[in-house]
Amino acid sequence: MKRIFADSRSWAGLATVILLAIVQPALAQESGDPERGAHLANQCAGCHGPSPPQWAIPALQGMDPQRFTDRMAAYRSGKRAHPAMTVFATALDEADIADIAAYLAKQADETERSSQ
Ligand code: HEC
Repeated sequence: MKRIFADSRSWAGLATVILLAIVQPALAQESGDPERGAHLANQCAGCHGPSPPQWAIPALQGMDPQRFTDRMAAYRSGKRAHPAMTVFATALDEADIADIAAYLAKQADETERSSQ
């Protein structure tokens, strides 16, 4: 009997881990509106392009939301400076940046799904 209890406890633990793995990315995406982000990101496409990126400008598609937000914060604070990016980053507010981050993350999910 003891053995069965131990097993069911480890199954419950495993189920919790799986559930968290599914729920957490969904919660993270709720912080931004990907539809609005797609609209805002139109102004970035001229330089960052649709994938693959044109010229030597880094691609934004599929960028990790945290990484994207950190990069934008660096331009906004002046920690990182670039004539174009400083203008674009300071013209957006934090909600705009969260929406674009959600849009880029959503694109990453779609690329993953279509390559499966
Ligand atoms: C006029 C061209 C241009 C436009 C428009 C533009 N960018 Fe950029 N962006 C650049 C260039 C050039 C760099 C690389 C600059 C550097 O070295 O810091 C860059 C870098 C970035 C980075 C850092 C990438 C990394 O991997 O470090 C992010 C994030 C970014 N841009 C987001 C945006 C967003 C969001 C928009 C639209 C709101 C936008 N950019 C519009 C030219 C542009």
